[in-house]
Amino acid sequence: MHQFDTAAYSIFLGPLADALPEWLRARDYTRVLLITDENTRRCCAPVLESAWQALGIRPEIAEIPAGEQHKNIDMCARLWQAMLDARLDRRALAVNLGGGVIGDMGGFCAATWKRGIDFVQAPTTLLSMTDAAIGGKLGIDFQGIKNTVGVFQNPAAVFVDPVFLKTLPARELRSGTAEVLKHAQIGDPDLWRILTGKDYNSPDFDWLSVLKASIAVKVRVVTEDPFEKGLRMVLNYGHTIGHAVETYFLGTDDPLTHGEAIAIGMIAESYLAYGEGERLSEIVAGIRAYFPHRQVPEGALSAVWSYMLQDKKNAGKSVRMAVPGDAGPYSMRTMDLEQRMLADGMAYYAAGRTG
Ligand code: GLY
Repeated sequence: MHQFDTAAYSIFLGPLADALPEWLRARDYTRVLLITDENTRRCCAPVLESAWQALGIRPEIAEIPAGEQHKNIDMCARLWQAMLDARLDRRALAVNLGGGVIGDMGGFCAATWKRGIDFVQAPTTLLSMTDAAIGGKLGIDFQGIKNTVGVFQNPAAVFVDPVFLKTLPARELRSGTAEVLKHAQIGDPDLWRILTGKDYNSPDFDWLSVLKASIAVKVRVVTEDPFEKGLRMVLNYGHTIGHAVETYFLGTDDPLTHGEAIAIGMIAESYLAYGEGERLSEIVAGIRAYFPHRQVPEGALSAVWSYMLQDKKNAGKSVRMAVPGDAGPYSMRTMDLEQRMLADGMAYYAAGRTG
């Protein structure tokens, strides 16, 4: 078991069935509510059976439908109803077993239930293991705009069990690699070399080391800047354009995964920030090795721009973008974008250059 300690909570990297009971035994919660979706209830919850038996507890279970389209206020009402039915008092615990939607929304519902009960994150996707579950950002989408309503509230603990990576469809696993590539660019050149030098589909791929390195980057950034007043903005690398592209595609018949959208965003933003040259080539080659080209219709750009105007980093009328800086690991550069620059970045992406 590998453990990361932050000032507020610990992150355990290893078997959930060992780590969670040990952690729970040292605490005195009145009730436990396991929050799942239909997939994680079937594929992941059985891992915990022996743990509940050993602890002599039977958690209440709340199950919601899987998918980003359900990360909304109606589904929160369903979770709060489950909390009411389970009679959760202020000393109860919510266990969020799932990907980013379960972690963000289950955490948000727990953080607002009776003004806040403890919750733990048990992420089951690569994306949530390496990014969403760490750092206390919780919330839901509103009027189709991603993560517009939410709070900062740290979990009581995070349990990252790599065994769940085996339950993921190939496209979902690949989606998560976008955040790992992002962390490598932000703080760990060795991690970038591992990711771009080895085939992540190979059975020998060392996920444990990749998770360890990727989580370490996230922990360092959120520890330095928990409320995104400075350095934490760099975690939005690829997301200023990528989130807006993702939101646009959510309204189509063929939505992108989060990672697919962020990959597009990282390429377009890197072009705007660094221009042509070695740095851009390296980034583009690395990302394109994971993510095949996806056409974004030119007619989509005005919708993408209007979604970008909603970005939480903005101050005033322009769109604020943050990318890794020029002074090595953990440096950051911010730029203010105008609509014309979005068109330039997307034209570079559309050209399909591979490095
Ligand atoms: N996922 C970006 C952040 O946690 O700040």
